[in-house]
Amino acid sequence: MKLLVQPATRPLAGTVVIPGDKSIGHRALLFSLLSATPVRVRGLGDGADNGRSAKAITALGATIARDGDALVITGTGLGGMHAPSEPIDCGNSGTTIRLLCGLLAGQPFATTLFGDESLSKRPMQRVLEPLAQMTAPVAATPEGTPPLVIGPAKHPLRAIDYVLPMASAQVKSAVLLAGLYADGVTSVTEPGPTRDHSERMLAYLGAPLGVKGRTTTIDTRGWDRRLAGTGFDVPSDPSSAAFLVIAALLVGAGEVRLPNVCINPTRTGFLDAIAAMGGRVLHDNVRTAGPEQVADLVVRGPAAELHATEIAGDLAVRSIDELPVLAILAARARGTTVVRNAEELKVKESDRIATTCAMLRAFGVACEARPDGFTVEGRADGPLAAARVHAEGDHRIAMAAVVGGLVAGHETVVEDAANVATSYPGFATALRSLGATVRG
Ligand code: S3P
Repeated sequence: MKLLVQPATRPLAGTVVIPGDKSIGHRALLFSLLSATPVRVRGLGDGADNGRSAKAITALGATIARDGDALVITGTGLGGMHAPSEPIDCGNSGTTIRLLCGLLAGQPFATTLFGDESLSKRPMQRVLEPLAQMTAPVAATPEGTPPLVIGPAKHPLRAIDYVLPMASAQVKSAVLLAGLYADGVTSVTEPGPTRDHSERMLAYLGAPLGVKGRTTTIDTRGWDRRLAGTGFDVPSDPSSAAFLVIAALLVGAGEVRLPNVCINPTRTGFLDAIAAMGGRVLHDNVRTAGPEQVADLVVRGPAAELHATEIAGDLAVRSIDELPVLAILAARARGTTVVRNAEELKVKESDRIATTCAMLRAFGVACEARPDGFTVEGRADGPLAAARVHAEGDHRIAMAAVVGGLVAGHETVVEDAANVATSYPGFATALRSLGATVRG
């Protein structure tokens, strides 16, 4: 599937309600399976990835019913899951497969998990390694990729102290979920501040969870192994919002308003990077919504005058999913932007160091791939070259390229863009509602 983008001829303007946060949506679904009471989930996004988690929990014994604007999920509790009748298809979704590994590690039955071509190339050893240390039976291909077989566990799992070798919320979450099925204290220490939605949401459900600095513990001693909650409100997805925020900064905005966006600090590195480059994004109506903070993000005024920055260390971890679209912003910022400590980009839905650099070059922007990131030679003057970008089936590359096309000299063609539907099916419609011309 192709997307065709025309250069924007006037400032963007309007209000867009961004769909529910994908990471929180996965957790709302998967954790509701573990609840002993029905859970109302409101605001779940319509992306295919969350759909994979929804199907997975029904295969394991949950029921999902619609009630007005909410889904009511009746789970099985920790001990009531049943063996799925067939292998579970996780599609393109890394969060579905990796969190399921943790959930299934302590079950008395075996489950096979598989995915699409991209997911079948992604590393799973990072999750299987700690789960095996916890005595869970786990198997993968010789390359450590899906299909995976998890279980059957014969006894409670062994509690471990695990120091994450990479900054990954998916691995952290998998170990914490397995920890619910272990005897004793399971701890996970992370090297950088990865998203902490699992911690917030499991604590809300009554998990015996503690956080001290970079270490999170699950202590099952004396716990009745019961999780229960009444509901989750899923706020709008900051990772999807990033595309519209950056589009508005590049094109200029009458006013672009994105209500109710999750501003959990583990997710807002892109806003800090934008501020460091001289872009202004206002936070309106900041408030608490359940375990998360939310705000309306507002961009107003002519195209921003931007300068280069460095994105490294904790900031790279906190903006990992937004780096492709930040690279487009950097292409229009004076000077050389450097992205470091972002080697995790190589194992996303595509090798995003390679695909981000290929996208930038297609727009005529000089860039250099590094082992742990890339550099971008930004130019504040003149449009980007009109491009033909191959998104390599990666939703975030496709959407970043569309944003680049808004400030190119002529029509830009983005090929292999169908996977935009994994996270933000309404992306092109949203841009059109702000006044952009995007077809496909
Ligand atoms: C996610 C964690 C991050 C992120 C991914 C979603 C999550 O991946 O890139 O899009 O929901 O936990 P890692 O855990 O591999 O860092």
